[in-house]
Amino acid sequence: MHPQPLANLRILLGVSGGIAAYKACELVRRLRDAGAQVRVVLTANAARFVSALTFQALSANAVRSGLWDESAEAAMGHIELARWAQHIVIAPASADVIARLAHGIADDLLTTLCLASSAPLAIAPAMNLRMWEHAATQANIATLRARAAVVLGPADGPMAEPESGPGRLLEPVQIVAALAALQGPGPLAGLRVLVSAGPTCEDIDPVRFIGNRSSGRMGFAIAQAAVAQGASAHLVAGPVHLPTPAGVTREDVRSAEQMRAAVLRQIPHCDIFISAAAVGDYRPLALAPHKLKKSGKALALRLTENPDIVAEVAALKNKPFVVGFAAETRDVERHARAKLERKRLDLVAANRVGDGAGFDATDNELTLIWHGGKQALPRADKIDLAHALLERVVALRLPKTKVRRR
Ligand code: C5P
Repeated sequence: MHPQPLANLRILLGVSGGIAAYKACELVRRLRDAGAQVRVVLTANAARFVSALTFQALSANAVRSGLWDESAEAAMGHIELARWAQHIVIAPASADVIARLAHGIADDLLTTLCLASSAPLAIAPAMNLRMWEHAATQANIATLRARAAVVLGPADGPMAEPESGPGRLLEPVQIVAALAALQGPGPLAGLRVLVSAGPTCEDIDPVRFIGNRSSGRMGFAIAQAAVAQGASAHLVAGPVHLPTPAGVTREDVRSAEQMRAAVLRQIPHCDIFISAAAVGDYRPLALAPHKLKKSGKALALRLTENPDIVAEVAALKNKPFVVGFAAETRDVERHARAKLERKRLDLVAANRVGDGAGFDATDNELTLIWHGGKQALPRADKIDLAHALLERVVALRLPKTKVRRR
């Protein structure tokens, strides 16, 4: 299973009354670790077991419980919340909630949301074993299953009361694994993505170099998103201070020439190359063996041009799908389109840099440009942009979607 199997999935978690409600707290954590966005709705009974504040802190979102909560309705109305949800998960689901759902009753916020949403529904029942085995509950479960609801559990084992049997809530990790399995393989399943990231450093002498302000965050986010979408991902990173995203392999380099060598070594093993690195255009003609001393006069550094890595890859006969970045300070689209043509790229992700935008920030704004189309991606976290960028890559690759075999 890849590390973020629920990346960006918007999950509405309904928590109903029962002692197992405390386990829903850990479930929120696990869902978020798996990449999901979570909004929690408590039934009135659930709120007696665990406070809304706990869920609010864990989900990093406001928690709803009543239909008539005016301030919450003003922030996100219940119909909007129903539309927001891509998946509804009810854990724990009490016998009472199961009964109300089965009969289409909408007498509180959670059941109203379930009726108002077309998102798939998964329920993880938790109740006393006799309540679970009761013919009424079993009939309600059958009704929900017939409507394509997925029933997760319940597990067998000791209960809060001194008896044992079916009725225990599944463990949060099991619920997350089941939800991940429901998502199917990611859109990039089976593909190999190579990403270059970060700046390059071109040494002048043993202590000085020419660098740039790239943090590497965009490239690292792309590698992370690629893995979340089912690909295998390899990063060739210039000098950055970022942890390697889980599931990604990484090779560190320093100069443009080292980056070129590392990228060209990997190209035969990749289907998609995303050149997010801010490769230095020039390097000193010669590396001074010792620290340069002040001479009291102006110093002229002779620079020579670096190889253009992405253009070289795009010119290969058996080239992967090639994505370049274009960081511009003005006239973004025009320059980006020129870059698309000149470097023979399949897609360019363009952004405006300078004035604190783009480099070294956690969010960004991109325009995707390809032959015959463009798409503006409004300001968002780099991980969200990375997912959107990869979705576009998948769409553009579709007509020639065969995985290259060597
Ligand atoms: O020409 P410019 O530097 O604006 O192009 C940016 C794109 O080209 C980026 O995708 C960058 O990674 C790539 N590039 C490269 N090698 C260079 C310069 C830029 O691969 N020497």
